[in-house]
Amino acid sequence: MVAVGRPVGIVGVGACVPPAVVTNDDLAQIVDTDDEWIRTRTGIRQRRIADPEVATSHLAEVAARRALEEAQVRPEEIDLIIVATVTPDMPFPATACLLQDRLGASRAGAFDLEAACSGFTYGLAVGAQFIAAGVHDTVLVVGAETLSKIIDWSDRRTCVLLGDGAGAAVLRPVEAGQGLLGVHLGADGSGADLLKQPAGGSLLPASVETVLGGLHFVHMNGREVFKFAVKTMGDAAQAALARAGLRFDDVDVYVPHQANYRIIESSARRFELPLDRVVVNIDRYGNTSAASIPVALDEALSAGRIRAGDTVLLVAFGGGLTWGAAVLRWVYDRREARPLEMPGQEPRYGLPDWIRRRALIRRERREAEPVPTGHTDPGGTGRRARAGGEEARGGGAR
Ligand code: UT7
Repeated sequence: MVAVGRPVGIVGVGACVPPAVVTNDDLAQIVDTDDEWIRTRTGIRQRRIADPEVATSHLAEVAARRALEEAQVRPEEIDLIIVATVTPDMPFPATACLLQDRLGASRAGAFDLEAACSGFTYGLAVGAQFIAAGVHDTVLVVGAETLSKIIDWSDRRTCVLLGDGAGAAVLRPVEAGQGLLGVHLGADGSGADLLKQPAGGSLLPASVETVLGGLHFVHMNGREVFKFAVKTMGDAAQAALARAGLRFDDVDVYVPHQANYRIIESSARRFELPLDRVVVNIDRYGNTSAASIPVALDEALSAGRIRAGDTVLLVAFGGGLTWGAAVLRWVYDRREARPLEMPGQEPRYGLPDWIRRRALIRRERREAEPVPTGHTDPGGTGRRARAGGEEARGGGAR
């Protein structure tokens, strides 16, 4: 996919994370893990977790308002809102519609986009096409997640990895040679079983059995996803750069999906990019799926690490399987650091009681009746997992 038509760029970014900080030591109180294992295997030290009454749209709204403010765009000027998420407020209506209402974006169309951790890069690519084609002038793209809502807090293989947050970007026409220079999107549904929330859709509608079986939680074969990520990030980045007519040498700032520090480091090594050009914040937020790239972008802007004229490379991979990469020539400087905290909230430490309770309930449930660990999709997806990779889940409860 080449950027053709009107040039389009990001003219404002905003982000938001919830106040509850959960450290590795906190998680060691509920599953058989320790800070050293989590840090050395993933690079994560802590993550932010939304309070029970906070939904994805709440974080999305704060991030969106901040992006609009930076872009100096009023909500009524937005033509289209795209929310990338795997944790919508509800299956329908779209979280984008809830956001449209809250923002008062009276002229905007709105839809959700589901490409898991690649969601923001997919949203950027899709939103940009409307502007490039001259159909719209202003598109708001949001990546927002409350993954804490679909975590099995008794499963050490997944609960240590994920976190909550939201990031948003305002897209508008920019001058020739600026903005989005190249994008690449990809998917391989044969790996569908490697990372999924098995129940709650038409294949396995919510039922007493699906709830008791823990099938509404994230299920992941981490080892297989790791291998896929290491290979795919390089290929995706190369394809987007080729389409922009650029090489890895030309990249000033690399903003990778924050899933595992080892994956980030290995991709930077492959690109021959020094680590001082790589934006890393996984240590503080964990993997926030579709929010991870825009939150990292926001922090890099606040730190003055991204300036007008810089060539910025975004690369993501995730469930689907999906991947996406985008190359942008950045169009503005952020003059002062912007907040990431929710308005009026300071970071709060300690394991929230509701997480402790849920971990206990799940653990008791497992001990009473071990859940099946080999759910495969009878509908025909997930060839990769059926052919070889075992579906890893459910291990590690104390
Ligand atoms: O956004 C995309 C989403 N996901 C990802 O990108 C995840 C990609 N994968 C990864 O990041 C890594 O595969 C993980 C961090 C998930 C796991 O690291 P690993 O080095 O691949 O570990 P492993 O799965 O090979 O497990 C090694 C051992 C196992 O024990 P045994 O079977 O060797 O006795 C696990 O049970 O580590 C055990 N283990 C843990 N131990 C302590 C798994 N999770 C934990 C834990 N604490 N939290």
